[in-house]
Amino acid sequence: MSPALFLDALHQEIQQTQYGEQPVELYEPIRYIMALGGKRLRPLMTLLGAYLFDDNWQKALRPAVAVEVFHNFTLMHDDIMDQAPLRRGQPTVHEKWNQNSAILSGDVMLVNAYELLLDVDTSHLKRVIARFNRTAAEVCEGQQLDMNFETRWDVSEAEYLEMIKLKTSVLLGFALELGGIIAGASDEATQLLYEAGVNIGLGFQLKDDLLDVYGDPAKFGKQVGGDIIANKKTFLLIEALQQSTGAVRESLTEWIGRTEFDKQEKVQAITQIYDSLGIRQLTEQRINDYFAHGFASLHQLPANPERKAMLLEFTKQLIERES
Ligand code: IPE
Ligand code: IPE
Ligand code: MG
Ligand code: MG
Ligand code: MG
Repeated sequence: MSPALFLDALHQEIQQTQYGEQPVELYEPIRYIMALGGKRLRPLMTLLGAYLFDDNWQKALRPAVAVEVFHNFTLMHDDIMDQAPLRRGQPTVHEKWNQNSAILSGDVMLVNAYELLLDVDTSHLKRVIARFNRTAAEVCEGQQLDMNFETRWDVSEAEYLEMIKLKTSVLLGFALELGGIIAGASDEATQLLYEAGVNIGLGFQLKDDLLDVYGDPAKFGKQVGGDIIANKKTFLLIEALQQSTGAVRESLTEWIGRTEFDKQEKVQAITQIYDSLGIRQLTEQRINDYFAHGFASLHQLPANPERKAMLLEFTKQLIERES
């Protein structure tokens, strides 16, 4: 087995998935965002997590798609909140249709996710739904904090880490844990899977913050500089606010405080400040640290070493990703 085979099976399952028919205005945006692709990282984690403990990883396919549908629902709503024009190199749903469409199609996607989760064996269903519910509520909590932080200047690194843990990492944790649960792994193993996913998720969101500034627009698929334009309290900005002094700090706070500005000019100015403070290298270091934490949990898993190595190899690629 190789990750490519899991990915092929996943693509097939996603292609077969039905979301609903009428009115077409409700279901078309769902088919659109699901067909845009993306890395399919979370459902792959579910499949690889299941394969660690059971040859029959295929039974995790529909639940894995549930996680991907939920993720895409959060993206559809996130893009409204972040006023994002681009997703996976194409117009966002609220730009291509309108905000109301993106709200309502997103709502149905959450229902679709539950529908797909119902495929889980009855013996695990209650536990899976309870864990999914907790995770979904936490993602909303993280998204609210993310928005609250836009207008605050004093967000600490600890507050930031809690926010990204909620908005991003717990879903990666759940994705891995779900695979383990479906495959009948022990409580100890599912706990390790969750912890691994959360730490990998922290590194993953730090990398997302980094790419938002330093990504190649042709590969990133999203608007580069979007976080700077919106005064998002990313790891980069928090570090820059903490480390800068004198004229640099004044310039930084002046840019953040401006209500009217040329977007490109602001992105350029703040990126230059990050460059002068070595924020990029610092962020890369922290990304490596969180991934290393995640890998340590994976190493502890009582599972087949070759299958563990495959999961490790796959997650390692996320450190160097460009999209
Ligand atoms: C984007 O997730 C949202 C974050 C949590 C950073 P991905 O980077 O996994 O997006 P796709 O699904 O591959 O497009
Ligand atoms: C999004 O964080 C996390 C969720 C969608 C829950 P971001 O706002 O940084 O994600 P992108 O960069 O738009 O993909
Ligand atoms: Mg956001
Ligand atoms: Mg966003
Ligand atoms: Mg982002």
